[in-house]
Amino acid sequence: MTRRQRTKVGDSVARILTVDDHPGTLELLRRNLSAAGYSILSAASTPEAIELLGREEVELVVTDYRMPGASGLELVRYVRENLKDTVVMMISGYATVPGAVEAMKCGAEEYLAKPFTDDELLQAIGRSLEQLRRRRAERVCRAEKIVAPPGLVGESQAMCKVFEVLSRAARSSATALVSGESGTGKELVARAIHYEGPRSASPFVPVNCAGIPESLLESELFGHVKGAFTGAVTSRAGFFQTAEGGTLFLDEISETSPATQAKLLRVLQDKQVYMVGSSRAHKVDVRIVAATNKDLSALVAKERFRQDLFFRLNVLPIALPPLRERGSDVFLLANRFAAKFAEEQGRKPPRFTDRALEALARYDWPGNVRELENIVQRLVVMNDAETFHVADLPAVMRRRPPREGGLERTLAEVEADHIRRVLARLEGNKSAAARSLGIDRKTLRKKLEALRR
Ligand SMILES: Nc1ncnc2c1ncn2[C@@H]1O[C@H](COP(=O)(O)OP(=O)(O)OP(=O)(O)O)[C@@H](O)[C@H]1O
Ligand SMILES: [Mg+2]
Repeated sequence: MTRRQRTKVGDSVARILTVDDHPGTLELLRRNLSAAGYSILSAASTPEAIELLGREEVELVVTDYRMPGASGLELVRYVRENLKDTVVMMISGYATVPGAVEAMKCGAEEYLAKPFTDDELLQAIGRSLEQLRRRRAERVCRAEKIVAPPGLVGESQAMCKVFEVLSRAARSSATALVSGESGTGKELVARAIHYEGPRSASPFVPVNCAGIPESLLESELFGHVKGAFTGAVTSRAGFFQTAEGGTLFLDEISETSPATQAKLLRVLQDKQVYMVGSSRAHKVDVRIVAATNKDLSALVAKERFRQDLFFRLNVLPIALPPLRERGSDVFLLANRFAAKFAEEQGRKPPRFTDRALEALARYDWPGNVRELENIVQRLVVMNDAETFHVADLPAVMRRRPPREGGLERTLAEVEADHIRRVLARLEGNKSAAARSLGIDRKTLRKKLEALRR
């Protein structure tokens, strides 16, 4: 009795195999799960399920515990021993603790006792699939021997890619350009490039190009000699000299004036600086890492940023994905921040309820990791509880999106929501998202640009 509910399995549709000897239960599961958008296969016994798993790819097996002949436990064992990319959830009418323990010991990811509500079923399914996703991400990282540098949290595929480029960048002295929305961790990445590389014993000097008045920027960067201008009573080294042997981090590089851009270009080309008021060149050995939250190539196109400087800076581009495209990294980060801030107060790490985690995952995070960090800090400071519920979260996060069938939503809202969810699910992989949405990459890019406006 094999029923395949969907012929097309897109990137975002999880395939679930339900196994039960009661046709009525199978039918119920099939109806509920396909209504929730899953693709369903069914089998009436463990041997039938094993036979089916031999020829079909399935992400989750939901199996009954007691069945005539081989029990659900044997199916759990089979899956654990033979299928790396499948998780199992056990359902049992006998809510015995030993049964649950046994199921978990054999490798079931979840155990659900009958009777359960539709919501409980869907939540347990969600948790099982989340575990699968996490395991896949860990495997990608492990297979490629990628470890997050100290201080940087993340195991989504999007972040694993960043860590890989980062570790290569750390080994070289080439100029790197870190881009990403505000709060995505650009400065943290710039520091990691420096401290994970051979220059780590020399200084890391951060300069906020937007924070220094234009009239002072040149002397701050290159230093000045005595008498160079009114008030220059002594000679003073600039950031370039301070960073000798190390790394100069030019933050908000898009905010530099054309004059400063021209001077930076010269330093990058000649590897020497002129102190203000002096015509003598000083050789410098400084690695440049620049950062921007603007699209520099777009500024180049508008002639607001020098193209030649852009090329010199963009030797090693590192693009940080927004938090909403990092899948379950949101949970990792939320838990890490909660533990950190609780520890500061000598408290046990608090935990988030599943519904609170769901709300965090649904939120758009315009302020990215910084916003998450601030929110968690506020939660920990203002709330002594050991568990954080949805009600504790800021109001913007508590708003549940209108139900799927919400007739008050416009087509554009539904489309935007769907695009965001597919992208989040695929951790920002735009090619896969375009495929899943049935459009080409260019169309997706245009739609995303429109969403940002
Ligand atoms: N992957 C991460 N793991 C742990 N903490 C992170 C991560 N990314 C960012 N943070 C934290 O989030 C905060 C913001 O990071 P950072 O200052 O590096 O962002 P930014 O991209 O430079 O932001 P802006 O564009 O506003 O300057 C910092 O407190 C940083 O420690
Ligand atoms: Mg910054």
